[in-house]
Amino acid sequence: MKVQAIILAAGEGTRMKSSLPKVLHLLAGRALIRYTLEAVEGISQPRPVIVIGRDAEIVKEEVRDQADFVFQEKRLGTADAVLCTRKAVEGNSDLVLVIYGDMPLLKNETLRNLVEKQKKNSGPLTIATMQLEDSHGFGRIIRKDGKIKEIIEEAQATPEQAEIRELNVGAYCFSSSWLWSALERIPVSPKGEYYLTDLVGLATKEGRIVDSIRLAKPEEAIGINNRIHLAEAEAILKKRICEKWMLEGVTITDPERTYIEADVSIGKDTVILPNTHLKGQTVIGENSEIGPETVITSSKIGNQCKVLCSVLDYAILEDRVSMGPFCHLRKGAHLANGVHMGNFGEVKDSYVGEETKMGHFSYIGNATIGKNVNIGAGVITCNFDGKTKQQTEIGDDVFIGSDTMLVAPVKIGKRARTGAGSVVTKDVPEDTVVVGVPARHLRKVKKEEVENQEK
Ligand code: UD1
Ligand code: CA
Repeated sequence: MKVQAIILAAGEGTRMKSSLPKVLHLLAGRALIRYTLEAVEGISQPRPVIVIGRDAEIVKEEVRDQADFVFQEKRLGTADAVLCTRKAVEGNSDLVLVIYGDMPLLKNETLRNLVEKQKKNSGPLTIATMQLEDSHGFGRIIRKDGKIKEIIEEAQATPEQAEIRELNVGAYCFSSSWLWSALERIPVSPKGEYYLTDLVGLATKEGRIVDSIRLAKPEEAIGINNRIHLAEAEAILKKRICEKWMLEGVTITDPERTYIEADVSIGKDTVILPNTHLKGQTVIGENSEIGPETVITSSKIGNQCKVLCSVLDYAILEDRVSMGPFCHLRKGAHLANGVHMGNFGEVKDSYVGEETKMGHFSYIGNATIGKNVNIGAGVITCNFDGKTKQQTEIGDDVFIGSDTMLVAPVKIGKRARTGAGSVVTKDVPEDTVVVGVPARHLRKVKKEEVENQEK
């Protein structure tokens, strides 16, 4: 049986008090709408249809080719929103699955169960319900002799009905042949809207059976109406994500204080210490140790790395890289195998070669650094001449003395050495020692100086 999913997202989202459409607000680093699409993944064939109101273009940009769009001109209610898709989807499928775009925690397996239940139902629809003490804002499920009779929206509920704690989740599976004509028969509500939930009463009045599935965990049904709900959902999702990685073999010493976004991936035997934020498209290898107090965004980190109290943005660390405390890697920083960065270092748009050491207080920008280089305390690549960024090149086995200023563009040849405090304004040939301000050529490097340099 073919299933067509319809996602309703044309509401104003007024309670978010935001210039951003509700479904584009982020949850664990991902737009809300992407969770909903994931919830129907593999179920909807043809692809889902999203009903949208304002800001259609930016939502389309986020969703790309994962769904089709239908525009609801006037916000006349959830039944009207579904009716808007009629032209686009009628005849496409045997079943129609309707969910709301603001329920990011709804699971794929729950919707699969809902669809399976409807396949077995002789009646025209199956709905998802849940049992929850905090019933505020939800439609109440009215049963008679145990069988579902209708859904009453909170605004229309009598005081007795308002006491009911079996609630409407907002996920429905309909038989297509019944749905479209039934939608036309929905009366306008006292609020002036057409309620999709009225389809339940309509079906039972015809003597037809409305079946249901019950959510095991009501947290799945959290609907995001304001930013308090957004934070609640974030807390639940954060826990789910940490649990997922722990089951995959990652040690997380304090999940309550670990923040891993939805698109991050982590290898086994890696340890994540408290107050670590892993964001964006970050990928971490195996046997690494990250944190505490570390923020990593869209970076790639290899195996056996150690990152302590640092901030990394769009950086690459190969294997066995150690850094921190207090390093900042910015976009384009690439640290090769075995690089060590001690405290207070900053690197951006630079390649740092294998086994190079940079222990204390350095800024490396727009540089290419070879292997086994020693970068002394306080070394700075002066990469900005006031107009443009200039390049620094440092060859293999170079020793840059403490507090050296490398005034770019400048090249330091292999095995060269700079004295403490030198200001290098001209290229330094291989095997040459330079000192002074600005640095002058002093003598040739001695063999033992190269040999004695700690690797
Ligand atoms: C709805 C249900 C309620 C259920 C609750 C679960 C109805 C009438 N009520 O109430 O029984 O317990 O969800 O969270 O369905 N939308 C449109 N076009 C419209 C109106 C709404 O696309 O004209 C979309 C909204 O963007 C939203 C969804 O439909 O994603 C639900 O609308 P909302 O106003 O949030 O309904 P609730 O009052 O939460
Ligand atoms: Ca809602």
